[in-house]
Formats: sequence, structure tokens, C-alpha cells
Amino acid sequence: MAPTRRDAVSSRWSPLSLIVALLVAIAAQALAADPETVARLDMVRTIEVIAREAGSGGTVPTTLDATVLEVMRRVPRHAFVPADMRGLAYDDRPLPIGYGQTISQPYIVALMTDLLRLPPHGRALEVGTGSGYQAAILAALGHQVYTIEIVPALAEQAAKRLSDLGYNSIYVRRADGYYGWPEAAPFDGIVVTAAATQIPPPLIDQLKPGGRMVIPVGDAFLVQELMLIEKLADGSVRTEALLPVYFVPLAGGP
Ligand SMILES: C[S@@+](CC[C@H](N)C(=O)[O-])C[C@H]1O[C@@H](n2cnc3c(N)ncnc32)[C@H](O)[C@@H]1O
Repeated sequence: MAPTRRDAVSSRWSPLSLIVALLVAIAAQALAADPETVARLDMVRTIEVIAREAGSGGTVPTTLDATVLEVMRRVPRHAFVPADMRGLAYDDRPLPIGYGQTISQPYIVALMTDLLRLPPHGRALEVGTGSGYQAAILAALGHQVYTIEIVPALAEQAAKRLSDLGYNSIYVRRADGYYGWPEAAPFDGIVVTAAATQIPPPLIDQLKPGGRMVIPVGDAFLVQELMLIEKLADGSVRTEALLPVYFVPLAGGP
């Protein structure tokens, strides 16, 4: 008797061969992903674990915004570190970028970005461009980013890197970020990625009512406090100490 159509299919694709084909497809997909992509996914899993631990004290969130994590899975941190550091690019730690400066720890980048709670297509100011990575994360979230770097060579390198990578909603300025960027103000959010001994008043002035600033405050080369500054609708300011952190010092100022 000629096989029915169902017989013909089942003789070619037994349950076992279907499982094998599925496993081969999954393995092929894993092999096709480049090592940096795999490392980046691991990095974000580590960030999620650290967030749960760090947030258990109640001052910072235990779960970070899913869109922030999604962007951190995409932005190539290895393109923001010196060539001899690429193998460490997806470790959850700061790395040297020259001139005595660092690219911040990925968890801290994710946390500070999350804490800003920028509105869609928000206007953000970053003080301390460094490698440009934090600026790239904010831009990848769809925000317009103004970023200031005091070290001329870092400002120049970051501007070129960001342009080469196709980020066209980031403006880089070489200047003292203590004074902010008055012509581009007011901002929905301000992120300061170097430790200030006090909250710079010009930055508070440049925050929109309803805006938020995240800034490490404390003595240079000691543990500082990550602070959240909220400017309320009536212009008053609410300040909250969130987490001990360790940042390079904010230079410049009066
Ligand atoms: C921890 S690094 C920033 C990391 C950076 N956000 C990144 O994603 O790579 C701090 C940066 O702040 C810069 N900086 C320090 N004082 C500054 C100031 N007054 N104005 C602007 N940048 C400053 C340093 O030169 C350094 O590049």
C-alpha cells in the first residue's frame, strides 16, 4: 500500500530527529553569536544579580529598567576601552582609559541611567564624558545628550569614537562641567560621573522642575555617596543619599 502523506512525513521526521535538528539549530545560533555579544549578555546577567544584592538595603532599585538593560545588551563596551583592555571590557568593573581616568563599572552606569528616569526623547547632560560609553547608553535610549569632558584628549577621542559608531544625538564639549552647559539647559536629567565635594549650584540651576540629577558626592580618593537630587515642580530641591561609591574626582570648579 502506498504511504499516506502523514506516513511519509513521520518516516522522515521522527521525534528523535526533530529534537536533534532543534539542538543543532540552537548550537549553530550560539556559535554564530560573536564572543563580544555573548560576553555582553553575561555582563547584563551579572548587573541583574548585583542590582538584586545592592538593592536589598532599600535605597536603590533591586530591578533595573528593562529598556536600560536592553540597551546595555547592545552598546559595544569593548569599543570604548583601550585595545589592550578589550578582553576585560565585559567584566563588571571600571577600567583605565588613560590620563588617570576610568570608564565606570557597568552596574553603576546601568544604575545611574535607571535613576535618571528620563522622559522619552529627554534632554540629558553628562559631566565627565571619559570614553563616551555612558553618553552612548543615554543616546541609545533615544535621548539627546550633551556631554562635557575637561581633559582635551579624552573629549576629542570620545567625540570621534561616538561619531564613528554613528551616534548623532550626542554633543561633546571640552570644558569644565562644574558650570554645566547653560545654552543647552534646562535638562530633564544630569548625570555626573566624577566625585564632587559639593553639589555644583550651576547644575541645580540647569535642571528642569521635575528633573533629576545623579552625582557622587564626597572627598576625592575616598568612598563617596551616590546622591539623587530631585528638583520639584515648585523649584525646591530634594536630596537623597543612595549608595557608597568610588569615583575619580571632579576637577575644575571655582
Ligand atoms: C569616571 S570617568 C567618566 C566615565 C565616563 N562617563 C564613561 O562612560 O567612560 C570621569 C571623567 O570625568 C572627567 N572630569 C573630571 N572633572 C571634570 C569636570 N570638571 N568637567 C568635565 N569632566 C570632568 C574626567 O576627566 C573623566 O574623564
